[in-house]
Amino acid sequence: MFSKLICALPFLSLTLAQNSVANNNYLGSTPFERHSVNHTQTLSIIEAAVEESLNLSIPVNIAVVDPSALLVGFLRVDNAYPGSIDIAQKKSRTVALFNGAFPSAGLYNSSQPGAALYAIEQTNGGLVVFGGGVPIFADGYFIGAVGVSGGTVDQDIQIATAGVNAVGSTT
Ligand SMILES: *[C@@H]1O[C@H](CO)[C@@H](O)[C@H](O)[C@H]1NC(C)=O
Ligand SMILES: *[C@@H]1O[C@H](CO)[C@@H](O)[C@H](O)[C@H]1NC(C)=O
Ligand SMILES: *[C@@H]1O[C@H](CO)[C@@H](O)[C@H](O)[C@H]1NC(C)=O
Repeated sequence: MFSKLICALPFLSLTLAQNSVANNNYLGSTPFERHSVNHTQTLSIIEAAVEESLNLSIPVNIAVVDPSALLVGFLRVDNAYPGSIDIAQKKSRTVALFNGAFPSAGLYNSSQPGAALYAIEQTNGGLVVFGGGVPIFADGYFIGAVGVSGGTVDQDIQIATAGVNAVGSTT
């Protein structure tokens, strides 16, 4: 048993070395190579959004997700509404789940009673159909989405857009 362990160890350390964090933690590619927002971009987005939040004197929650709608970064500006934590994340998620084809506000009209997509917000574990979720495009690719919540819809959109503009564009 002991000799088996000794034999196994070099294999184990080789496996670990091949799959180290430096070698992309088992995935073999970086978010940048996958056209997905990376952590450096996420920090820039959040920093710009915080600046705009302070400019407008409206404390907000800021969420950044990748194209699969998975969270990459989140920040709550001091005193932003706790109830907006979930809204900010669901706004970003709503945009990502439709590949950035429209901002969250793009669903507003069609989700009203009697309209074609009525109750769409009840799908996918909860969507948000008003403004404040915007796509992030860079070099022609949809790389993720930003969701902001805490101000009026117009303020949330303005803050989210300021965040996106730090690394790309919203279209
Ligand atoms: C993150 O994305 C930026 C912008 O596309 C890129 O310049 C940078 O190299 C990326 N960082 C890593 C660690 O890949
Ligand atoms: C915040 O306001 C300053 C001063 O007016 C301006 O230079 C800066 O661009 C604003 N920030 C954002 C993110 O719009
Ligand atoms: C929603 O409807 C309003 C009023 O009819 C219109 O001004 C607005 O452009 C529409 N928004 C979208 C995203 O289609």
